[in-house]
Amino acid sequence: MRVRLWRAKGARVALVPTMGALHAGHLALVHEAKARADKVVVSIFVNPAQFAPHEDFARYPRDFAADRAKLEQAGGVDLIYAPDQKLMYPQGFATRIAVDGPSAGLESDFRPHFFGGVATVVAKLFIQCAPDFAVFGEKDYQQLLVVRRMAADLDLNLEIVGVPTVREADGLALSSRNAYLTPEQRGIAAHLNRVLRRVGDRAKSGTSIPQAEAEGAALLLDAGFDRVDYVAIRDAETLAPIREAARAARVLAAARVGGVRLIDNMPV
Ligand code: PAJ
Repeated sequence: MRVRLWRAKGARVALVPTMGALHAGHLALVHEAKARADKVVVSIFVNPAQFAPHEDFARYPRDFAADRAKLEQAGGVDLIYAPDQKLMYPQGFATRIAVDGPSAGLESDFRPHFFGGVATVVAKLFIQCAPDFAVFGEKDYQQLLVVRRMAADLDLNLEIVGVPTVREADGLALSSRNAYLTPEQRGIAAHLNRVLRRVGDRAKSGTSIPQAEAEGAALLLDAGFDRVDYVAIRDAETLAPIREAARAARVLAAARVGGVRLIDNMPV
């Protein structure tokens, strides 16, 4: 593949894995990759293995021409890698990576299939593209830690770089799924980041962690969210539960407004 030629000439190669429907959050990853690498590959693949049957795989937005135009506007990349289903999952495909550690709990309590599917496709992309490093967003903080753990555990021989979450003016984290929100739901969604900040502040100023988490969940319901999957303060490196927010901690949440499930997180 082209990457092998680049690397043979001494180029440092970055991979930015995406599912397309690109927005400014993805472009921040591309920007970081371009600042650190000689050659940048962006992969676009909507990965069926990380969606449960009832989730939005079929309606997930797909517009390759628009994605390519956005990458060009952002100054261009060296390669857009958009494999098809048959290449990624040929007939008879029967292997799946099992993950543990940071994948336990939080998202996995609600999407048990998710990180196995992510780890499997990301490992395939790493092996196919053989980058020196890959760039992931802190928006999906648990995913970032799962991928970092997997890359180390399987000796995949690349570095995982995390990039801070890109937000709208009112703090809502950019997400392809924001497009599903009605104007009213969009107003409710803006509370998620504010509540997370408040929960973190409460824990830092001495409120017990269970109490701060419970207050956060109540605030989200008051703001109009229909269901709160979790509001949790965890160790920022392992995502293990902690007793107090004295050491590096992260507050993470997932909540549903209408049919749209939103996630967000931030440092405490
Ligand atoms: P996708 O949701 O397309 O996200 C691709 C990358 O963009 C992820 O690393 C994600 O964390 C990052 N990202 C999304 N929104 C962001 C924001 N507002 N600010 C900063 N980064 C943001 O995550 C996936 O795809 C898939 O699970 C994938 C890793 C490609 C495996 O299929």
